[in-house]
Amino acid sequence: MSGAEPAQGTREARAAVLRVVGEPVAIEDLVVAEPRAGEVRVRMLASGVCHSDLHVRDGEWPRPTPIAMGHEGAGVVEAVGPGVERLHVGQPVALSWLVPCGVCRACRAGRPWACPDSPSFRHRMPDGATVLATRDGEPVLSYCGIGTMGAAAVVPEAAAIAMPDGVDPAVAALIGCCVSTGVGAVVKTAVVPAGASVAVIGLGGVGLSCVMGAALAQASRIIAVDRVEAKLAIARSVGATDGLLASDDRGQTVAALRDMTDGGPDFIFEAIGRVDTVELAIEALPLGGTAVLVGMTPFEARASFAVYPLVDGSRRILGSNYGFADPPVDFPRYAALHLDGRLPIDRLIDRRIGLDDVEAAFDRLRSGDGLRQVVVFD
Ligand SMILES: NC(=O)c1ccc[n+]([C@@H]2O[C@H](COP(=O)([O-])OP(=O)(O)OC[C@H]3O[C@@H](n4cnc5c(N)ncnc54)[C@H](O)[C@@H]3O)[C@@H](O)[C@H]2O)c1
Ligand SMILES: [Zn+2]
Ligand SMILES: [Zn+2]
Repeated sequence: MSGAEPAQGTREARAAVLRVVGEPVAIEDLVVAEPRAGEVRVRMLASGVCHSDLHVRDGEWPRPTPIAMGHEGAGVVEAVGPGVERLHVGQPVALSWLVPCGVCRACRAGRPWACPDSPSFRHRMPDGATVLATRDGEPVLSYCGIGTMGAAAVVPEAAAIAMPDGVDPAVAALIGCCVSTGVGAVVKTAVVPAGASVAVIGLGGVGLSCVMGAALAQASRIIAVDRVEAKLAIARSVGATDGLLASDDRGQTVAALRDMTDGGPDFIFEAIGRVDTVELAIEALPLGGTAVLVGMTPFEARASFAVYPLVDGSRRILGSNYGFADPPVDFPRYAALHLDGRLPIDRLIDRRIGLDDVEAAFDRLRSGDGLRQVVVFD
């Protein structure tokens, strides 16, 4: 402790901070600012560990440091800045990692998920301010403007989406990233019609959410594909009709998918972010089929596909960021579907851990061991 008393309105919070990419995150005590106009301070209750955090931790995406990690979080509003009227102290919220700029071409066209100018991507508040600092006064960035792997966060009011009562904070956290991404890829990006056949490649939080979305959309056949056998059973428990263990030989997986669906699934979701599975998803499409790319590769990755059959067979490749989420509309919808028993999000969570276990959680994610891990704060 530097000896100085915290400034009025600030508080301290333990947080997972990335200082050097490729090296372990440090658990540090940070000073969290008092919320200013248009900001709220959230007492974090849960933060999911998403593979995107691992991409950042491992240096696969360029990001500035030092930065408080985490972008899949939920908690309770504990303080509001001047002029904040939509939220009150005590309100449960889930956090959005993309606050649209509101003025760019994508925003004006009603596609906030495609906003390239979101202040969230600068990992600061919209006016450029940082809201976290070490006890010595060194500024610390907040990942996507929300930095959820900390006991408290100051966020733009627009990033805090009110949740209905009765939603487990861990479930609300997952709605903030993997659920919106996966369910939305199915029901908003691809708009899968009832009766279509679907395959989902990769069964982490995102892929299992694609499976839940396909069940919600009443797909006739939902084939869940992973290289870890245990994931196939959990996929069945959230709506998959079939499980397929991915073969090291891509041709075999393609052949199996074709066999199971009379020539290939109508929709294939890639939810890993590997070039070979992206190419697999495109290769296994039937005439008129659609590959939906949800997994994110390292920044520089390139994939290739045979052009002639894509054109000749009227096949499609779609990219889906954040499941085309409009968080103020979609988060409460997904929460309501969960409360109705139609999105069994709780089954995606297999470990509740403390902040000190974040590095171990990253190791498990790298090896494909387990499901969604959630950091819980008390
Ligand atoms: N598009 C978006 O907006 C968005 C949002 C969130 C996450 N993502 C991305 O989605 C991807 C998945 O995230 P997650 O948190 O679910 O990851 P995860 O690590 O929990 O899940 C990945 C799954 O893929 C499986 N897998 C790995 N290699 C495989 C292979 N060769 N064949 C078959 N299965 C294989 C693993 O066993 C694991 O079950 C990441 O790239 C993440 O960055 C994208
Ligand atoms: Zn995520
Ligand atoms: Zn915009």
